[in-house]
Amino acid sequence: MYTTLINDDIYHERDVIMNKNIAVIRGDGIGPEIVNQALLVLNEAAALYGHSFTYTDVDMGGAAIDKWGSPLPDAELQKCLESDGVLLGAVGGEKWNKLPGEIRPEKGLLKLRAKMNVFCNSRPAKIWPQLAASSPLKPSVTQKGIDLIIVRELTGGIYFGEHKTDIESGEKYAEDNMRYTEKEIERIGRIGFETAQKRNKRLCSVEKSNVLDTSKLWKEVMHRLAAEYSDVELSDMLVDNCAMQLVKDPSQFDVIVTENMFGDILSDEASMITGSIGMIPSSSTGSSGPGLYEPIHGSAPDIAGKDIANPIGTVLSAAMMLRYGFDMSREADAIEKAVSDVLDMGYRTADIMSDKPTDKKVSCSEMGQLIIKTLRSNKP
Ligand code: IPM
Ligand code: MG
Repeated sequence: MYTTLINDDIYHERDVIMNKNIAVIRGDGIGPEIVNQALLVLNEAAALYGHSFTYTDVDMGGAAIDKWGSPLPDAELQKCLESDGVLLGAVGGEKWNKLPGEIRPEKGLLKLRAKMNVFCNSRPAKIWPQLAASSPLKPSVTQKGIDLIIVRELTGGIYFGEHKTDIESGEKYAEDNMRYTEKEIERIGRIGFETAQKRNKRLCSVEKSNVLDTSKLWKEVMHRLAAEYSDVELSDMLVDNCAMQLVKDPSQFDVIVTENMFGDILSDEASMITGSIGMIPSSSTGSSGPGLYEPIHGSAPDIAGKDIANPIGTVLSAAMMLRYGFDMSREADAIEKAVSDVLDMGYRTADIMSDKPTDKKVSCSEMGQLIIKTLRSNKP
């Protein structure tokens, strides 16, 4: 919706109908089930607010290995690059674990992130009051609230350095190279500061500068940038201490900015303390072009095909796509509100069930339907 000036003092609000082409990667394991629910929710949002979404299926991960012999063939990647936004379920599974490194499902995801140049991965970890009982932390800790965002560098560092396994003096060895340039650190650092500016203006830069050169450079660049963002309070924390502080007192954090691997590890920890990894969405964006939106959990092959997975992380990722990719904050708000209302009514997928008598266990598809029904009935 935008506002048009008609007369000097009369504003008229007009709906803007948007057509968007969404590349959809269902992926492996529970991926197809959770993505299906998110697409149904998107369809409902489109119908309610007068947009039109078209979906282009993309094969990636194990599904693409089975079909094409590659975790992300170039033709599939191209569909993503030409889209307005990419929605992803999850990739990977035991079935493909023994394949050589280059054709593992995860390689498809890393190639996608690199080729889309989505260097900034935002992972919000927020405790839903309705689910506080599912947090493994003591109530005295969760009562203080958890509402933080991890801004993770996504296209550099050890994930993208040279990987090598060889034999030397009759002994097998392996090495992974970690490298960061000042420019790579600066561009993610700026997003960290800008994210903090829109929130509570506290940025914690996490590194291991007591040991690693990449971390020393990281810290140096962050402090250089701090001069340009005087409204943001910058602090530094070593990654091992951060892992500890996240369980001791997560309420101290507003925005955390960190490199690729530290962000991978800390975001799993941050999600778990909020109750369930199944609830957390993420957005990966670059300086231009489509963004990539995915829940942070994996493909959970052990529960695949049983209709018991939690679709909320994917539904909320779709909401992030609407908000940050398509500038549809009204529609994103409506989806997030519908999720919250469904939780208020006591509906829970298996992963977020507690022993409260008001909890009502539902399947993945029932959860999707409840969100859609609520979205519809909430519409003014
Ligand atoms: C994540 C995942 C991926 C990562 C894997 C699947 C390659 O754990 O998105 O956090 O390590 O980035
Ligand atoms: Mg991870």
